Amino acid sequence: MKIGIVGASGRLGRLVVTRLLELVPAEDVIAITRTPEKLSDFADLGVTVRQGDYDDTDSLEPAFKGVERLLIIPSRALVAERHEQYDNAIRSARYAKVKHLLTYTLEGTTPGNPFALNPANVYAEMALFQSRLPWTIIRTGPYADELVDWLPSIIELGSIPYPTASGKAPYVSRDDIARATAKLLLSDKIAGTIPEFVGPEMLSTEDLCKIAAEVTGEDIIYVPAEPADYVQIRMEEGMSEQDAVVLATMYIAIAEHRMEKAHLGGIEKLTGQAPKSMRELLAEKIASE
Ligand SMILES: NC(=O)c1ccc[n+]([C@@H]2O[C@H](COP(=O)([O-])OP(=O)(O)OC[C@H]3O[C@@H](n4cnc5c(N)ncnc54)[C@H](OP(=O)(O)O)[C@@H]3O)[C@@H](O)[C@H]2O)c1
Repeated sequence: MKIGIVGASGRLGRLVVTRLLELVPAEDVIAITRTPEKLSDFADLGVTVRQGDYDDTDSLEPAFKGVERLLIIPSRALVAERHEQYDNAIRSARYAKVKHLLTYTLEGTTPGNPFALNPANVYAEMALFQSRLPWTIIRTGPYADELVDWLPSIIELGSIPYPTASGKAPYVSRDDIARATAKLLLSDKIAGTIPEFVGPEMLSTEDLCKIAAEVTGEDIIYVPAEPADYVQIRMEEGMSEQDAVVLATMYIAIAEHRMEKAHLGGIEKLTGQAPKSMRELLAEKIASE
């Protein structure tokens, strides 16, 4: 079965391709990107690399030719542009006779969620439901990698300024999402399902501070933060205002307890291996430095 992945050059996409290559021959994998030269390492392994741009419909149908299952990893575009990108991808997939569509949205995707990209996630889910093709929607937890990568600053700040109040979330690593996605892409009976790829536990920011303090041996103490505090700190570190505001709204959704209905255990049930805990991920980060 030929499996296509759009967004294969991104951080999640590269991990999905890598995990797939542990399970299937390279000739079954079609990696799609706007910039094929970014994937020359996969091409060297025998992966078919094709050019495809969500904003250029002429590029998509040829990119999707022969694909049976297509994983649409969303770009980082904002809401209106993403709607168009989904429309383009789904229409082209139909023309190319793709047999099954998969995409990612986030835990808590439902109208009214304050996450700035929630309308795009709601739209993505509706677009797949109405695609007239078999579909699978993967709802993920927030990426644990975001905190793991931020650890040096967290140590300096002495706190984690996520504006989540007492809200909890099932943080999960991109690699565990990718590992489970590779398995899912090869599974039967996934049409019309909404698997949840989330971490092994629900954690508040106070929990995160305790874990980070234990793992690092540093003073990392929970101090409630406002969204504006978070945005200001991230911008001072060089993040764009747009990215900082989008992320802040995800933490506002967590503060509203929007992710607490997530069902834990989906990754372990599918793969036989539990996703890594935040404690393990932070300890790995410390060990790698
Ligand atoms: N759950 C969470 O906490 C969380 C956090 C952040 C993001 N996300 C979601 O997860 C997705 C993947 O995350 P990531 O960290 O892997 O993102 P990333 O590293 O920024 O990768 C984004 C990918 O989108 C591709 N892309 C961008 N514009 C495109 C276009 N017009 N047509 C085709 N491909 C395009 C890029 O490929 P080329 O530039 O090579 O074409 C790249 O491969 C994000 O888009 C976002 O929706 C989730």
